[in-house]
Amino acid sequence: MDLFDDLPPDAAQTPIAPGAMLLHGFARDGDAALLQAVESVLQQAPLRHMQTPGGYTMSVAMSNCGPLGWVSSASGYRYAALDPLTGQPWPAMPACFLDLAQRAAAQAGYPHFEPDACLINQYVPGAKLSLHQDKDELDLRAPIVSLSLGLPAVFLFGSPSRKDRPQRWRLVHGDVVVWGGPSRLAFHGVSALAEGAHALLGRRRVNLTFRCVRKK
Ligand code: SIN
Ligand code: FE2
Repeated sequence: MDLFDDLPPDAAQTPIAPGAMLLHGFARDGDAALLQAVESVLQQAPLRHMQTPGGYTMSVAMSNCGPLGWVSSASGYRYAALDPLTGQPWPAMPACFLDLAQRAAAQAGYPHFEPDACLINQYVPGAKLSLHQDKDELDLRAPIVSLSLGLPAVFLFGSPSRKDRPQRWRLVHGDVVVWGGPSRLAFHGVSALAEGAHALLGRRRVNLTFRCVRKK
């Protein structure tokens, strides 16, 4: 089976907005190593359902690796060097994560990407992420790099204005989306995950987002 058998030969990447690119199947080759690294991070920093400042429990289960981790609680959103669940630093960012994130950023036109945070999101059928902007990072010059593994999802991607209706993109195992520049503060989200079973991940989708939080 060809790597891009469901896409025309010139569609290995699709611009989805100014400064935003969908790299189809970019991580498919290295998926086994990436998944092993995900499991090892999650053994040290387990997935958990965080509280939102509005008092809701998120349907997406989250963890982090790298120097800083994104956390949400009743008191707000922040980046923290220690995992509030274990009191320990977040696990180091695996070398294969960093390599993938840097290659994807460069491919999308953002060389020299040095992420210091990686948020791990796990979706089971029904879980969703409502429209939001990633704006807790201090360095807005750097893009966000987002890797999808496991079950397919519908990714909503709009513009920096909440008034613009987001477009819907199907993300499958191994796809990477990179957004920066004029799209860095674009509203985005994930529709409720449909039922399914993925050959490697079973009944779940795992998404990794790489961010530059501190200014270099
Ligand atoms: C996020 O916005 O942090 C996650 C996006 C995704 O799961 O694709
Ligand atoms: Fe986000």
